[in-house]
Amino acid sequence: MPVSLPLFEQGRHLLSVDQFDRGTLRRLFDLADAVDPIARRRGVCTVLDGAMLGSLFFEPSTRTRLSFESAFLRLGGEVTTTTGFTFSSMAKGESIADTARVVSGYSDVLVVRHPDEGSVAQFAAASVVPVVNAGDGAGEHPSQALLDVYTLERELTERGKTIDSCVLAILGDLRYGRTVHSLMKLMSLHDKVEFRLFAPPGLELPDEFARPVVERGHTVTLCDTVVDAVAGADAVYATRVQRERMTEELSRSISGLPATDTGLAPGSRPAPDLLNRAILTEADNLDIVIMHPLPRDSRPGSFDLSSDVDDLPGLAIFHQTDNGLKVRMAIFLTALGVSVEAVELTTKQRPWKATLRE
Ligand code: NCD
Repeated sequence: MPVSLPLFEQGRHLLSVDQFDRGTLRRLFDLADAVDPIARRRGVCTVLDGAMLGSLFFEPSTRTRLSFESAFLRLGGEVTTTTGFTFSSMAKGESIADTARVVSGYSDVLVVRHPDEGSVAQFAAASVVPVVNAGDGAGEHPSQALLDVYTLERELTERGKTIDSCVLAILGDLRYGRTVHSLMKLMSLHDKVEFRLFAPPGLELPDEFARPVVERGHTVTLCDTVVDAVAGADAVYATRVQRERMTEELSRSISGLPATDTGLAPGSRPAPDLLNRAILTEADNLDIVIMHPLPRDSRPGSFDLSSDVDDLPGLAIFHQTDNGLKVRMAIFLTALGVSVEAVELTTKQRPWKATLRE
């Protein structure tokens, strides 16, 4: 991704977190705070009345697609969607450029996920409306990093801490995990972050992501064990092994399981969890903020975050998913040039009773 991408503002694509500085990041977070009542269904908003989102997901997705689409709908817009290659004309050999030009003619903004790194930028180049990158292969996932940093900031604030000077352990697939790539870049807009990295052999962070972080004055420590990474850390960000992006051989070497197996191979023992309660107990850090972009792979031997941490006080994984709605609303409002005043003017009290726990 070229570093010369313009800052993210009205009429612009959102392709990379490189499009933020601390000022624009703060503005986006303020917008996310302003739409909190709408995300919580306290108010019904029609500010995007007449606007159409084109949602194109060529890779599996649950929360990213549904939260982008819910965000647009909750702001009063409409959504058209296509999922997978099978049901799009790409299955007939249509190019990214042709698809992007065609679909952008029907929409006011596009959200695109695609398995190839750089592909969403190709979409953007041919689109006549703003394109938001919802994940391009092992490249970037800017909206995820934005909601991750938004969440981490709130969790740390509640504990009287800041992202400046915090210690963040990042675990798992640092090579193919695009959320980590975007997260480290966005975190490095802050001051003096200590990153503690733990990755299984073969899944280490590529130097292209580590180097700029160090050049900005942050510390990157490679840890031999998860206990070393999380001991004394303020937060931990665990990630799933991205088996769909790697050779079967590498996938097997991580857990001892066939790449596509959903159960244990005969006679094999489950690989240990990437992170669980026992590890946090050994590190004497049961209060740590626990984050994960999700989905968490809960199959035996998946080498992911165990659900035995779910009752710990720092569990923030569902705060991340909830915050994703607000942050994605803020992304649309920015791309379409909508002010907080316009949102307030077009928001009314809901006439129905919500069942959501408040
Ligand atoms: C992530 C992704 O798609 O990169 N999921 C998400 O969008 N929250 C992480 C993953 O798939 O492991």
